[in-house]
Amino acid sequence: MHHWRKKILICGGAGFIGSNFVRHIYTRYPSYQIYNLDLLTYCGNQANLSDIEQVESGKPAADSRYVFLHGDICDKDLLDRLIPTYRFDVIVNFAAESHVDRSLYSSYDFIRTNVLGVHNLIDACRRHGVPRFVQISTDEVYGDVAEGFCTEQAPLHASNPYSASKASADVLTKSYMRSHKLPAVIVRGSNNFGPYQYPEKLIPLAISNMIEGKKIPVHGTGEHVRSWLHVLDFCEGIDSALHHGRDGEIYNVAGVQKTNMEVIESIRQSLALPNTVDAYVVHTSDRPGADLRYAPDATKIKQELGWELKRHFDAVIHDTVLWYLNHRFWWEEIKGKDVFQDHYKRQEEAKYY
Ligand SMILES: NC(=O)c1ccc[n+]([C@@H]2O[C@H](COP(=O)([O-])OP(=O)(O)OC[C@H]3O[C@@H](n4cnc5c(N)ncnc54)[C@H](O)[C@@H]3O)[C@@H](O)[C@H]2O)c1
Repeated sequence: MHHWRKKILICGGAGFIGSNFVRHIYTRYPSYQIYNLDLLTYCGNQANLSDIEQVESGKPAADSRYVFLHGDICDKDLLDRLIPTYRFDVIVNFAAESHVDRSLYSSYDFIRTNVLGVHNLIDACRRHGVPRFVQISTDEVYGDVAEGFCTEQAPLHASNPYSASKASADVLTKSYMRSHKLPAVIVRGSNNFGPYQYPEKLIPLAISNMIEGKKIPVHGTGEHVRSWLHVLDFCEGIDSALHHGRDGEIYNVAGVQKTNMEVIESIRQSLALPNTVDAYVVHTSDRPGADLRYAPDATKIKQELGWELKRHFDAVIHDTVLWYLNHRFWWEEIKGKDVFQDHYKRQEEAKYY
């Protein structure tokens, strides 16, 4: 494919990982035109890309490298208009409902966007012959892993409605790869952190609560193990899979294994707060069906595509803490809204019904 004016449609590009990925592509590939299709749900925020919007707003439309499109991946007519009009070289899908706790309160939006939305995208790719589709998935599809590490061959054992919706999307996408020879890859990332993450997730919640002098609600004992991955390491993995991944393949992208309490302790040290971590948390009852350990194995993407984890956890946790210290206005506005407060109350009370 010719590099000049490659057109890339990024779905869900106003969210946390999507906006970091838009910025990654914008910076790394100056000849690409980026289209960002996002419904702007509670966690979608156009302000996440205001730096790029500002640069682009001064340009004539023909030279524009970034276009925001407000819309829903579940809208078939919209995709049937957009895809033939712009003739995208690639579609990358980040659009999703992404919070496990919310999927326990109500899973309808999760099934709608994460399953029906992905079906709508892959079927549109099939009908219009889009040359590459990249589905962004998660290590949560493997479920709880008591020991060892999960390669891409591991069985799917989703434990909650969120991971079940993501696993369903993977199974559907795989079926299209096989039956329809859909030229697609699936990239399964582990727990991401970094700038612009909606503060209902552990790391931005812990940092912002510590800055505000509030205790951090922690599920159960906080001994759950996750594979922590800086969002830019994930973006580089997605970039490799997008450009060099083989059609029909799945690639895990993993970080470093740490418990939730270890992560909070690193944040406490970064903020140079006194006492031990226990002084800053309040343990709530655990999520029903909580997964105790995720452990994806990223050997395949390292060996086949040369991806590697470049960032050191302690260094990027510190950078992330500094980002939230310097962007207080960004998270204070979000935390002030009813949609955040209602969820926060439920999480503190561990009300999952
Ligand atoms: N955050 C993580 O740790 C993590 C890890 C692995 C994989 N993932 C996956 O990466 C993707 C992005 O996650 P995130 O944490 O950035 O999520 P996020 O919740 O911050 O962002 C999701 C974005 O999708 C948009 N969206 C929701 N429904 C839509 C619809 N119907 N049509 C168009 N746009 C819609 C939202 O407005 C928002 O901008 C998700 O698919 C998630 O499953 C996340």
